[in-house]
Amino acid sequence: MALLPVLTFPDPRLKERSNPVEVFDAELQSFIADLEQTLRSSPGGVGIAAPQVGRLQRIVIVDVSGKPNIQHHGRLILINPEIDSWEGMVKGREGCMSVPDFTGNVIRADSITLRAHDVLGQPRQYDMRGYEARAVQHECDHLDGLLFLDRLVSRRHDLFPRKK
Ligand code: NI
Repeated sequence: MALLPVLTFPDPRLKERSNPVEVFDAELQSFIADLEQTLRSSPGGVGIAAPQVGRLQRIVIVDVSGKPNIQHHGRLILINPEIDSWEGMVKGREGCMSVPDFTGNVIRADSITLRAHDVLGQPRQYDMRGYEARAVQHECDHLDGLLFLDRLVSRRHDLFPRKK
């Protein structure tokens, strides 16, 4: 396994739309292992998307199980994820490995339903809410070339320098 270099804002590759995965082979499994290791190397990291390491494919890893007192599905590898429904609106603080110097307040749906393929290409479906739903929405945005910076209600009031 290998740690992959993470692209940071304003790298233009972060603005690209990613392509669906069509081949579920050993090379994909190996890439996903590297992507997960890269996520785990970031303290407090709860998600990563393939385009953040320059691979423009619709692959996301989310794992919020380290956060106390929240509902979650554990370690999720979501390939070609599609959010089918959104309910409720909640403002919350987000960070991103590609925006290391800031956090920001973003409004997201409180609960979503989601379809995705797993690492073997099997279809899965999830209902999720709260922090996990927020993390998935954030990561799926990366697949469409969007960062949380693009969703701030106000750059002046909702963007915060990270404490060093
Ligand atoms: Ni991010």
